[in-house]
Amino acid sequence: MSIIQNNIKERRSRFPGMYEDRPIEKDDILKVLSSANYAPTHRKTEPWRFKVLQGSAIQALGEFLVQEYIAAEESPSEFKTNKIRKKAVKTQTMILICMWRDPEERVPEWEEVSATAMAVQNMWLTCTELGIGCYWSSPKAIHNMHKHINLSEGETCLGLFYMGYSSVDLPPYERGSIDDKVEWIS
Ligand SMILES: Cc1cc2nc3c(=O)[nH]c(=O)nc-3n(C[C@H](O)[C@H](O)[C@H](O)COP(=O)(O)O)c2cc1C
Repeated sequence: MSIIQNNIKERRSRFPGMYEDRPIEKDDILKVLSSANYAPTHRKTEPWRFKVLQGSAIQALGEFLVQEYIAAEESPSEFKTNKIRKKAVKTQTMILICMWRDPEERVPEWEEVSATAMAVQNMWLTCTELGIGCYWSSPKAIHNMHKHINLSEGETCLGLFYMGYSSVDLPPYERGSIDDKVEWIS
């Protein structure tokens, strides 16, 4: 197996409960963001945008997620609200995954979402190499993110990237066979 294949297989979703109680070094955060910036991009629109949250900004976002959850549910559960708060407390850095729509709309929106997702995969693989646990979370509240964080014109929030150093060892998540997903045509 090559280094890259190993890294791809070792990449896992690691949740805040698995994070160590120490801040992520700025240098490591910059490496992760720099990797994102090398994602492929049709017509070089570079649609990925990020907002790096730390300290009390994470707790404030957690509280926003709680309020959004309560507002959306007929009978919100205390267990779930506590879980959302606890995740914020355990998170060392959170990156809001945003996509900026080229005002000229030179490429279809799905291509911009795809390019942003590829940037996130680069971040995820870099985190794997650096021993940073992370995962992409996409609660319904992301559609209301503009109520909490200033989003520029054309910017949409696609998710939250939770991060924290983690030495929790996880086996690769079992997938169905690739043979069932591929047709060879000649
Ligand atoms: C676009 C996207 C959105 C996701 N949203 C969530 C989410 O809201 N909650 C969650 O627990 N995991 C979320 N995940 C992570 C997946 O659950 C996870 O990748 C999947 O279970 C496979 O596990 P692995 O990442 O460890 O291989 C998301 C992943 C992607 C790509």
